[in-house]
Amino acid sequence: MIQTFDYLTLLEPIHDEVMGAMERVLRSGRLILGAETEAFEAEFAAYVGAKHCIGVSSGTTALHLALMALGVGHGDEVITVSNTCVPTISAIELTGATPVFVDVRDEDLMIDVDGVASALTERTKCILPVHLWGQGADITRLLELAHRANLPLIEDCAQAQGTLIHGKHAGTFGIAGCFSFYPTKNLGAYGDAGAIITNDDALAQKLKRQRMYGYTRANYAEDIGMNARIAELQAAILRVKLRYLSGWLARRLQIAQRYVDDIHVEGIRTPFQHPDRVQSYHQFVIRCQQRQRVIDHLTAHEIAHGIHYPTPVHQMPPYARLVRHPLPVTERASAHILSLPVHEALTDGEVERVIQTLNSFELHTGA
Ligand SMILES: Cc1ncc(COP(=O)(O)O)c(C=O)c1O
Repeated sequence: MIQTFDYLTLLEPIHDEVMGAMERVLRSGRLILGAETEAFEAEFAAYVGAKHCIGVSSGTTALHLALMALGVGHGDEVITVSNTCVPTISAIELTGATPVFVDVRDEDLMIDVDGVASALTERTKCILPVHLWGQGADITRLLELAHRANLPLIEDCAQAQGTLIHGKHAGTFGIAGCFSFYPTKNLGAYGDAGAIITNDDALAQKLKRQRMYGYTRANYAEDIGMNARIAELQAAILRVKLRYLSGWLARRLQIAQRYVDDIHVEGIRTPFQHPDRVQSYHQFVIRCQQRQRVIDHLTAHEIAHGIHYPTPVHQMPPYARLVRHPLPVTERASAHILSLPVHEALTDGEVERVIQTLNSFELHTGA
């Protein structure tokens, strides 16, 4: 079976380095917020080109903390998309604020900036675009809009390690960029982890306090905070993997480019490629007119697939009450999207098999 995620094959070449890093942590006598966390924060900040990086326990806590630190709470609205993973929305809800969904553009299924403009109210406190699948959102127009409306932008980069927009890393455009290092991500920990990047000194200091109960010194809080700390073990593992990330991303890009160039079949649309963006292809998402038949065809040829995501968030029980604006593109897309295996451990032969299999798919025209 060609898998969509395969950390064991990728572990092989880095196994000794990972074990060495874990051993170093265990013998250091420091398991939380120590030298490894500090070093990873400096290295990840340098990688993305941000002034600060704050290591946290997950992508969800990264979003929750960033919103909290900006003072987003009860009575406020945060504009975002429903075409995302649930935690984008639950992080907003956890602050007490109201998520306001806007639709995505048919072209790339990223946030519709015109939709954001018409969803603004006097309660809007923040705009939260999601660079889903590693596809970059239209950050240039969003920044213009946010600037005009005097609103901060928090970027959900959970799936966008390595995504470049005008040559700059996703996450460096807004006041804060929030990353997840969930194991399947382009840069994945061996457990849960996340990070927030920012160029704002005061915000960085506040986030550091808030990830640790709001403490300014031992057992003394000056902010309301929580436990959102990254584990030293995960920071040490991420430091090893960060050194390989550029190579892995280059391989992902190569595979994605082969798919774009060579998958030509009626009823299947490959992802839109913006000339000003380098997608990091956390997922390679095609759109299929007859998705279940494509899935059956892939499965018969032992090729795994994913759907990110089969149900838009606004159609789930806790969130249906939030719908304010029609979301036709989001709803239509959720029935057609399909993620192909694109991870860096795929062999050339496997990539070829995915292409040949899809190209042999025949659309039923219903005649
Ligand atoms: C778009 C998006 N936002 C937020 C998150 C939350 O990240 P985590 O699982 O690390 O909490 C995810 C996780 O997959 C995600 O895909």
